Amino acid sequence: MPTPPATPDDPAPYPRITVAVLGPGGVGGLLAALLSRAGHRVVCVASAETADMLRRDGIRVHSGQFGDFTARVDADTELREPVDLCFVTVKHTALDAALERVLPGLVADGLVVPLLNGIEHLDALRARYGTRQVAAAVIRVESTRTAPGVVEHGSPFTEIDLAGPPERLAPVAALLTGAGIRTRVVEDETTALWAKLAFLAPFALLTTRYRLTIGEVRTAHRDELTALVAEAAQVSAACGAPADPERAMALYDAFPAGGKSSMLRDAEAGRPLELDAIGGALLRAADRHGIPVPVAARLVADLSG
Ligand SMILES: NC(=O)c1ccc[n+]([C@@H]2O[C@H](COP(=O)([O-])OP(=O)(O)OC[C@H]3O[C@@H](n4cnc5c(N)ncnc54)[C@H](OP(=O)(O)O)[C@@H]3O)[C@@H](O)[C@H]2O)c1
Repeated sequence: MPTPPATPDDPAPYPRITVAVLGPGGVGGLLAALLSRAGHRVVCVASAETADMLRRDGIRVHSGQFGDFTARVDADTELREPVDLCFVTVKHTALDAALERVLPGLVADGLVVPLLNGIEHLDALRARYGTRQVAAAVIRVESTRTAPGVVEHGSPFTEIDLAGPPERLAPVAALLTGAGIRTRVVEDETTALWAKLAFLAPFALLTTRYRLTIGEVRTAHRDELTALVAEAAQVSAACGAPADPERAMALYDAFPAGGKSSMLRDAEAGRPLELDAIGGALLRAADRHGIPVPVAARLVADLSG
């Protein structure tokens, strides 16, 4: 990415650039709209139907944090120009098909930033686009695509951690911060990805298995939640990312009782689950390190059936 200018004529701390968003859904649609509103040119890469709708109507955002607004975006079924930055925001279940829409040569001089939950998508992206071209990242947000081009942003926060060399990622952090997204750069990718996965996996697996909210899970299935959090923390630590199970339990206890995981919302809507990217990845990592994870294994088996 270009270095931010510092001229009196352009008070913005970052240049206006072209950003691609592959998969403009709950996360990608919000990001695309915020970046467009901040003055960047945004190209959404989507299915033909969604791309038509986005070109015509833009993206409508309903958000307590950012207000209600409509943002104009460009949209296409494939990326047709080189870009400085490409966010990948499809679900893991759609990743392989979606990547066909972005040829490696078009991001060869830029950066690909996936915001998927899970850890194993990094390998697939790096195999296609190159190690240096892909920066690991996690997003903390609750945002739902209620119809093509319509995003309901429910959380009072939107935060991204970018993992990697600060000199390379600082301009991206400045760009996102300029669009209203609280962004920090952390050096250790393993810590960033596992902090999210070790917290998310117990929440997603238990709420989805029992079709219950977090409030119901933490009371009716507390022993199972505690055991699963301990398993996830052990695996995370073995992978090089020490986790704090007590803090995780305190965070679950602080959640609004009616909170649902996106995996549960997918199950309720009959959509494919990111079970393999979340539960499967946890089991595979446990297996690599010889850590028994009976609770996680049973829940993944139950949900796979
Ligand atoms: N939503 C959240 O609050 C949240 C929070 C943190 C992390 N995450 C993670 O972020 C990732 C994205 O989640 P999401 O909730 O934003 O998903 P989503 O709302 O389902 O959005 C995914 C988008 O991908 C598009 N897509 C699917 N297949 C495609 C293909 N072959 N080519 C191009 N586009 C395709 C869909 O497009 P169509 O509209 O054309 O079907 C949809 O707009 C997931 O890994 C999730 O776990 C989500």
